[in-house]
Amino acid sequence: MKVAILGAGNVGRTLGTGLAAAGHEILYAVREPDAPKNAALPGPHSRALPVRDAVAAADAVVLTTPWNAAEAALASAGDFGGKPLLDATNPIGPGFVLTHGHTDSGAEQVQRWAPSAKVVKAFNTTGVENMADPRYGDAKAVMLVAGDDADACAVALRLADELGFEAIRVGGLARARMLEPMAALWITLAMSPAHGRNIAFGLLRRAAPA
Ligand SMILES: NC(=O)c1ccc[n+]([C@@H]2O[C@H](COP(=O)([O-])OP(=O)(O)OC[C@H]3O[C@@H](n4cnc5c(N)ncnc54)[C@H](OP(=O)(O)O)[C@@H]3O)[C@@H](O)[C@H]2O)c1
Repeated sequence: MKVAILGAGNVGRTLGTGLAAAGHEILYAVREPDAPKNAALPGPHSRALPVRDAVAAADAVVLTTPWNAAEAALASAGDFGGKPLLDATNPIGPGFVLTHGHTDSGAEQVQRWAPSAKVVKAFNTTGVENMADPRYGDAKAVMLVAGDDADACAVALRLADELGFEAIRVGGLARARMLEPMAALWITLAMSPAHGRNIAFGLLRRAAPA
């Protein structure tokens, strides 16, 4: 699969590394493809392309910009043509508070900004350390995804599974209203000296799922 990563920063490069290792072609959708910082992006078949070109060539897109850059980044992407758009952002504003919640979410805002995409909330509830390695001994960190389109969610679930997560769909896109506060909780714990960033959410079960 050709996966465009919109925002080649910490999250973008980490997901790009893992998805390239899983055999995907990574198209880094960047503002300055020829800039030195984009000269050695991870992945054997990876390329840095202008945002619009990367999105046009991709089968799926992962949004990994800062929240305050998401609207501009999506506007520069052009038409998504119904492609899955996996939203890994968290709508964190000044004072480190969520700017959306209860009756709306960042993911739903992303869907409004990119109406031609099929938006799925994914990869937002954990840190880059877990995106690089979601295995804790025999256990897997969980990756919860939310989206209205079953096929787009299946893409997110497949990519999360390939990275090593236990991937679970929790419902439609409005469930991002739960996943974004969950990310804020992860960040709160990760910033505590008692825990640090090498922590992950997982599901404990008394019996294997049916
Ligand atoms: N860090 C984590 O552990 C973590 C975990 C889960 C979710 N998240 C979320 O993931 C997002 C990214 O976090 P990060 O830590 O990866 O941030 P980051 O390292 O600052 O990377 C953000 C990237 O977005 C790019 N960008 C900004 N505006 C753009 C535009 N208009 N078009 C294309 N690219 C643009 C920047 O490119 P330039 O170099 O050109 O400025 C930069 O490479 C945030 O929303 C964050 O809340 C982060």
